[in-house]
Amino acid sequence: MNSPMSKSSGTNRVIIFDTTLRDGEQSPGASMNLEEKLKIATTLEEMGVDVIEAGFPISSPGDFEAVKRIAQTVKKSTVCGLARATKGDIERCAEAIKPAVSGRIHTFISTSPLHMKYKLQMESEKVYQAVIDSVSHARKFTDNVEWSAEDGSRTEHDFLCRCVEAAIASGAGTINIPDTVGYAVPDEYAALIAMLFNRVPNIDRAIISVHCHNDLGLAVANSLAAVNAGARQIECTVNGLGERAGNAAMEEIVMALRTRSDRLPFTTGVKTENIMKASHLVSTVTGFVVQPNKAIVGANAFAHESGIHQDGVLKNAQTYEIMTPESVGLNRSKLVLGKLSGSAAFKAKLKELGFDLGDNALKDAFKRFKDLADRKREIFDEDIITLVDDEMLRASDTLRFVSLDLHCGSKAPPKAVLELEMDGQLLAATASGDGPVDAAFNAIKSLFPHEAKLQLYQVSAVTEGTDAQAEVTVRLEEHGKSVNGQGADTDTIVASVKAYVNAINKLILKRTRSAPEALSA
Ligand code: KIV
Ligand code: ZN
Repeated sequence: MNSPMSKSSGTNRVIIFDTTLRDGEQSPGASMNLEEKLKIATTLEEMGVDVIEAGFPISSPGDFEAVKRIAQTVKKSTVCGLARATKGDIERCAEAIKPAVSGRIHTFISTSPLHMKYKLQMESEKVYQAVIDSVSHARKFTDNVEWSAEDGSRTEHDFLCRCVEAAIASGAGTINIPDTVGYAVPDEYAALIAMLFNRVPNIDRAIISVHCHNDLGLAVANSLAAVNAGARQIECTVNGLGERAGNAAMEEIVMALRTRSDRLPFTTGVKTENIMKASHLVSTVTGFVVQPNKAIVGANAFAHESGIHQDGVLKNAQTYEIMTPESVGLNRSKLVLGKLSGSAAFKAKLKELGFDLGDNALKDAFKRFKDLADRKREIFDEDIITLVDDEMLRASDTLRFVSLDLHCGSKAPPKAVLELEMDGQLLAATASGDGPVDAAFNAIKSLFPHEAKLQLYQVSAVTEGTDAQAEVTVRLEEHGKSVNGQGADTDTIVASVKAYVNAINKLILKRTRSAPEALSA
């Protein structure tokens, strides 16, 4: 098990609770399908994350199914589901996490005056009773129950202490104090956690957890300040994904603890070398591009542009590098393979990057690698990660890209001749448009007519150079639901078609899986 179950804050081990699949997915447009959630969950498990919050089971059949499948699949991390303080939510959550080797019910209710009055429209005594009832009910299904005081950082201290004491007395082993609206500042938030340790008589029977939103850019700072005050679980997301400005970024938390262990003498179970792989996967699946100057995982996080810096790094890397690129899973010598590399070198490289493919998948990946090497002289780690992720994302596609012939330039309107395959049948169409991408997308629409609206079309280069692979995200919206499609290729228009076709496949899948409106937490 990754998860240490000690209740004491005397330990220096910090539990990493990842909520990318729950709070992260609540970001508008960041929806993920079942296969993508499973892939992210297993990546988090391999990475050594202690608790994976897999979803909010009552919110939709799709979320229920995802939590259940993750609970069946993940063995080393605790799998957690979210539930409001109602019997229906808790029972649905209990059902979803039942197959887990280690499962947790996370139940919450708002405790701040503002939320109780306007959101819940409940008197504080009713809320207090709901804390007791919800935790007691959840304990009938599992002894691993977490209770959260939503908007905890804006809750009156006396009432917060009473609720925390009651939740622990009712059987909650983890107590989470969210800064739901990202309003707190570090010394204030640390003082709030310290206040709970001083005033709640049974606090030693629970692990205190923090869950910080990033509205003021302080989520990581607040989380670390809380750990210094006694908290031993941090709730966070990969790339800081999450509602509004997001949640505390896991990679920043984990690397701050690792790099500044002199000031922050705490450990986690996270294998930091897996950070880049997880970051790339989450960004590809959601279409949320990582900003270049983002701490730890941004493209420039380890780049040294100025001559003075480059000179210093060459003499001694520590002059301008406080962490090694290798410690987050980046290779210092990024050039890896080329046209002449054989399958043994390719297999070794995949292993180094943390991919463990079966024989058939390996054969397919090697074929695609050779194909890429024919078109691109130098193959970097990022190219290989993209190649593997790209295939994983289209594994269950029923509509597939076959070929594209494009005529464009300044002399005549662009024309696209497109071939797709559906259920073994070859489909072909020719279309024109305002530009090459428009022409190619019009050809798709003529082969597969649909009403979905294009919400996002985004292109980024995987590496440097004009022969770089383009990674494209297409977001389509149909009946209020959106899906993200991804595609990668050295040809930007081919990558765009692959991304659009991938999005269509997800719409097809969505139509066959019933998924009513999600609830918000
Ligand atoms: O931000 C928040 O308060 C939450 C709770 C449901 C834990 O996400
Ligand atoms: Zn949240």
